[in-house]
Amino acid sequence: MRFIDVCAVQDVTPDQGRPAIADGKSVALFQVGGTIHALDNACPHGGAALSGGAVCGRHVTCRAHGWRFDVTTGELAVAPAIKVAKHPVRIDGDRVLVGIHAQP
Ligand code: FES
Repeated sequence: MRFIDVCAVQDVTPDQGRPAIADGKSVALFQVGGTIHALDNACPHGGAALSGGAVCGRHVTCRAHGWRFDVTTGELAVAPAIKVAKHPVRIDGDRVLVGIHAQP
């Protein structure tokens, strides 16, 4: 796994998602209680960008059809078996690094 520098810590605010590219992969960053979480930036329902969804606390609502995900786990709120891939996040100084598995 490689950790990729994607943005500054202050770029990720609690009120909205932030899109980023990590090693060619689109990710959505969210901040909950000072902790930054990274999910795949594609809703498993139809592929809409979760970074553009409405954020309320630890949940983001997909703007396409309203599926609501817990950004701290990637789980769909009403059916936790449906998940968005979550990526590890490291903070290095004021930078956010997202862990991406190397492609085979
Ligand atoms: S694409 Fe996200 S709810 Fe349909």
